[in-house]
Amino acid sequence: MDIPIIRHIPLLSNPPIKVSSQPIYQTDFMYRTNNCGELREAHVGQEVTLAGWVQTIRKFGSITFLDLRDRYGITQLYFNEQLNGRLDGQPMGREYVIQVKGRVVERTSKNAKIPTGNIEIEVVDFTIISTANTPPFTIEDDTDGGDELRMKFRYLDLRRPALRKNLELRYKVNRSARNYLDAQGFWDIETPFLIRSTPEGARDFVVPSRMNEGQFYALPQSPQTFKQLLMVSGYDRYYQIVKCFRDEDLRADRQPEFTQIDCEMSFVDQEDILGIFEGMFKHIFKDIKGVELTEAFPRMTFDDAMWFYGNDKPDIRFEMKLQNLKANNVYQEGSPIRPGAFKVFDEAETVLAICVPGCSEYTRKQIDELTEWVKRPQIGMSGVVNIKYNADGTLKSSVDKFFNADDLAAIAAYCGANMGDLILVLAGKETRTRKAMSELRLEMGNRLGLRDNKVYKPLWVIDFPLFEYDEDGGRWVARHHPFTSPKPDHIDLMNDLSRYGEIKANAYDMVLNGTEIGGGSIRIYQRWLQEKMFAALGMSEEEAREKFGFLMGAFEYGAPPHGGIALGFDRLCALLGGQESIRDFIAFPKNNSGRDVMLDAPSEIDDAQKKELGLK
Ligand code: AMO
Repeated sequence: MDIPIIRHIPLLSNPPIKVSSQPIYQTDFMYRTNNCGELREAHVGQEVTLAGWVQTIRKFGSITFLDLRDRYGITQLYFNEQLNGRLDGQPMGREYVIQVKGRVVERTSKNAKIPTGNIEIEVVDFTIISTANTPPFTIEDDTDGGDELRMKFRYLDLRRPALRKNLELRYKVNRSARNYLDAQGFWDIETPFLIRSTPEGARDFVVPSRMNEGQFYALPQSPQTFKQLLMVSGYDRYYQIVKCFRDEDLRADRQPEFTQIDCEMSFVDQEDILGIFEGMFKHIFKDIKGVELTEAFPRMTFDDAMWFYGNDKPDIRFEMKLQNLKANNVYQEGSPIRPGAFKVFDEAETVLAICVPGCSEYTRKQIDELTEWVKRPQIGMSGVVNIKYNADGTLKSSVDKFFNADDLAAIAAYCGANMGDLILVLAGKETRTRKAMSELRLEMGNRLGLRDNKVYKPLWVIDFPLFEYDEDGGRWVARHHPFTSPKPDHIDLMNDLSRYGEIKANAYDMVLNGTEIGGGSIRIYQRWLQEKMFAALGMSEEEAREKFGFLMGAFEYGAPPHGGIALGFDRLCALLGGQESIRDFIAFPKNNSGRDVMLDAPSEIDDAQKKELGLK
């Protein structure tokens, strides 16, 4: 590692605790000659100065070993009998910041677990730079601190090697993306945070304006409209690694403020965009994992993803595809279910099955447990039918009363089951059943260890619908956002409300291991089409003009065809780090209630501030 030596003349308001023969404010002072991660056997004999945090202190009679930690690693310090006396006379404990001078010596008992494990520093002098309270949890990967406590003391949590590694990975992904985009001619252009609402489907965070009493800015849910305006301005190939703000329910892969690698290009079609960003993913993957991904990402239509996986972000690390016995009230062609055989199936909108490999020997207890699992409110099914295709070729099911051996054999054949498989069947309303089966598939994938986080299976999901029906609101909403263009030959369908569900867009998602890591589309760039889109979404002309007049106006001054994408930077980092939760890839994240536990934010503001802002 090539680390520059840091030379400082420290400005300390209080003199440090005088334990050193050499006061640390003298002018030729140097905090450290080396860091705690770089000394090796080749350095044996060198005089060095190190500074860092005390990780552990181990006393053995008249000698002491101390592990010193910094961002770069851990180095063992050895205090001989003479220094031990001085050490005993000092307050000293975990997380103290100290400086030591000494000589690099070869260790007698080496530690193969750490890179510096062959050496130690025989200390000749030391200074306590900062004392420390006993930390509320151990600063180790295997810490004893609970989530909330670690969030409260995030600056201590960030000292743990696991988090340090995550932030290093994040920095490297950031650098790798920038290098790639720079080489492709993209310019990084900043866009404002105090803006008007951008409709990305979540609620806005709003900021009251003091100078415009009673009015509010919205924080951007994404820079969507700005990047489109930059295309109108001619700044083809824009990117930004940028914060976005969305007030939505939080999950492991969602934070209220998160970061996107946001991009836009002009004079391109979908193919160009997929090519460039598939290239970016491969470039980052090579930089981070050292592995060249040579194959093109598979592409799957949205319709296929829903049909075979039950969701639009399929985890294709494993098969176990959904078998559609019945969908949208219709027994599918060749479906082995005899109408009239089983009322539950006849009355269901949808009947779906999966073949779980090698699980025919599931016990009664395991099946009961699965039944409880699908009954949980998050899944919402009333039960699960099972058919065991035993290793001896016999079939046994929970619906033996309704289906004879031939029926069961036909179902097993239709589902492509092998001897030894367990077939699980869910029946019910289309949307709920498909979603539940998607979850059950992932759950069985987890149980069978088929979702290995060292295996990476990216793909593109394409041909998304332009609209989706919002059951709660009883209306059609934009599936991606209202600036997404319908496929040109689907524009006419926008005149017929009954066919909204059929309209497809050149909209695409990049999916990795069951997570949506990016989404984008080809945009509308003509005023008439944008107006038509707003009208289709139930917006009056007046409302459209009031909210998006600036964009539609811009389209009248020479707008190039354009499109783009945004990758979820936090998600990308977490997945490359082999984890699902993005929280530990963000230096200062919010908890599940959207709180910054360390700052105790959000918080009340005082009356004077409220008055100034015109708030009651
Ligand atoms: P979209 O809304 O799909 O598209 O967002 C792009 C990507 O951002 C990530 N993401 C999130 N990550 C963490 N926490 C969140 N709350 C969160 N929400 C989204 C996801 C997602 O794929 N303007 C469009 C992009 C475009 O059309 O170019 C947009 O924001 O990984």
